Amino acid sequence: MPLELVQGDIAAETTCALVTAANAQLAGGGGVDGVIHRAAGPRLLAAIRAIGGTPTGSAVITPAFDLSRQGVKHVIHAVGPIWRGGRQQEATLLAGAYRRTLELAIGAGCGSVSFPAISTGVYGYPLEAALDIAIGTIQTYLETHAGLHVRLVLYDRGTLNTAQRVLDRQRKPPPAAAPPDALE
Ligand code: APR
Repeated sequence: MPLELVQGDIAAETTCALVTAANAQLAGGGGVDGVIHRAAGPRLLAAIRAIGGTPTGSAVITPAFDLSRQGVKHVIHAVGPIWRGGRQQEATLLAGAYRRTLELAIGAGCGSVSFPAISTGVYGYPLEAALDIAIGTIQTYLETHAGLHVRLVLYDRGTLNTAQRVLDRQRKPPPAAAPPDALE
């Protein structure tokens, strides 16, 4: 199943696993994390506090608590990097957060998962570069896990348009190699 790009509020998703953009202390936060915690109820914060923390570039999984009313079974708390100019392994860490989240979703038996654009809010990762990594990492993972349905949920129309542009660019075949000169 291909990657699907959609505009909307991730807390309204009905996939098996919702991904939130967490911090390494697993302390709860604002932005998309605040929205998901409000929808899941206070037991979600208690669950991540019990785990205590996870390194940047990784993720942890918990039950979805009150989100189960809409069919969601798990919340995956992914920790993307804070943007520090691009030379602090940000790209590797961001790809790692997506990959680890996908592994956790598969490990939990999920057939569908919804992501926000991790690190593109408070953490300041330049949007187009972050979406390039998100989409590339997800597409590569889907090459070997074709049954998984992944939705990338972009909050506003402009972000959706940027994501669509990135996806189109990644799908474009590389230019054909110049034919060898037959006379040489
Ligand atoms: N649905 C989908 N996307 C949303 C929603 C929503 N309801 N609300 C915000 N977003 C988008 C933002 O527009 C942004 O593009 O999610 C993206 C991620 O933004 P943040 O939530 O700020 O996440 P991030 O940049 O990874 O920063 C993580 O913020 O809340 C704290 O605890 C969190 O410290 C951590 C940090």
